[in-house]
Amino acid sequence: MTSTTPPDRYAASLRWLHWSIFALVLLAYVFINLFELFPRGSATRGNVLAAHFLAGLAVLLLVLPRLAVRLGHVDPPVRPPLDRWMAVLSKVTHVALYLFLLVQPVLGLITLQVGGKAISLFGFTVLPPRFGAGDRALSHQWEDIHGTIGEVFYYVIGLHIAAALWHHFGRRDNTLRRML
Ligand code: HEM
Ligand code: HEM
Repeated sequence: MTSTTPPDRYAASLRWLHWSIFALVLLAYVFINLFELFPRGSATRGNVLAAHFLAGLAVLLLVLPRLAVRLGHVDPPVRPPLDRWMAVLSKVTHVALYLFLLVQPVLGLITLQVGGKAISLFGFTVLPPRFGAGDRALSHQWEDIHGTIGEVFYYVIGLHIAAALWHHFGRRDNTLRRML
């Protein structure tokens, strides 16, 4: 007779991907908040902005394998089990976070490409504009959407972190330990 015990934690690959992506999203936010401190036209300002682009693109590169692993993954159970409303709220938040990780970098990329702008780091062009000179007004519209989503997700990510801490220190369940 064979019995399969459910796992205690998320698969190692999912845990690594979760924390790596967290670090990259944090960097993307840090760089975008820092670049405006440097004078317009300065090399440092350009490099810090490029660092924002590259951290964001790395998020996109990592979220794809993460979703692929996740789809065939058996979830470690939460002990004690969640009430239905908690399970629904956490599912909705996680789906929103995954959509954010996919859509936000793509919107940033569209902003640059529509604007005819390259990604250049230390004078080296990492990604040239592929669709000609660009349209500044249209690019600004994409940038506005990208910026608004970026602002909204400060709160969604904040809610997610607060929930993780509440599970650990308030409800004292194993939710956070499953991701460590
Ligand atoms: C998870 C990834 C990302 C996050 C969380 C993020 C977030 C943000 C935020 C909060 C802003 C500031 C908006 C404002 O103040 O109006 C911004 C601006 C911007 N982002 Fe991103 N972004 C990400 C990825 C990317 C990527 C991959 C690109 C391009 C390849 C990109 C391109 C831009 C551009 C062009 C701006 C406008 C910068 C300026 O003011 O000149 N972003 N982003
Ligand atoms: C940019 C920041 C973050 C993003 C985008 C993010 C994204 C996600 C996503 C999409 C999931 C769902 C995993 C799945 O079931 O496939 C998740 C789970 C989880 N995250 Fe985060 N996370 C972030 C930061 C954090 C931080 C800082 C903590 C801890 C303080 C944390 C703790 C957890 C825990 C404990 C889970 C498992 C929740 C559960 O299974 O019910 N996350 N995260």
